[in-house]
Amino acid sequence: MSPARSTPGCPPAAEMVHATSSSLLLLLLSLALLAPGISARKCLLTGNWTNDLGSNMTIGAVNDRGEFSGTYLTAVADTPNNITKSPLLGIQNNTVYQPTFGFTVQWAFIESTTVFTGQCFMDRNGKEVLKTMWLLRSSVDDIDDDWKATRVGNNVFTRLRSVKE
Ligand code: BTN
Repeated sequence: MSPARSTPGCPPAAEMVHATSSSLLLLLLSLALLAPGISARKCLLTGNWTNDLGSNMTIGAVNDRGEFSGTYLTAVADTPNNITKSPLLGIQNNTVYQPTFGFTVQWAFIESTTVFTGQCFMDRNGKEVLKTMWLLRSSVDDIDDDWKATRVGNNVFTRLRSVKE
């Protein structure tokens, strides 16, 4: 069989295949290099947040074990008159770009505790949103009242931007 000969302006089949696979390789390489920058901006818990009830919370730096602390100012409470900022303590999954997390708020102005669990999402517009569920444990004097001492609900948090931004 005689080898494929090129005619001017028309490369032989082998050369065309070679050129096509090289371009494909180049394309894949550029995509691999560019993709991380285009897609995944990691969802971060650190900062100021507000929720659908109007409560505000501030989360400090997350350490390399995923632990964080902060403060929570609830907009609603069983005793709404003396609400003060309360401490929170939490931990997040530190490896993925939309981490799951949990934190506990020990209410400073009333004998009750709330645990939140949720996930930090990047929404379709690139905005961070925390989808959470919570359990609020109130203190009851009598063990017979235990059945009514825990409430459950959900909150959605969005980032509070400072006026400078
Ligand atoms: C209490 O009333 O016992 C303490 C305050 C509880 C506030 C709850 S926690 C769940 C929900 N989300 C909020 O931001 N506030 C309420």
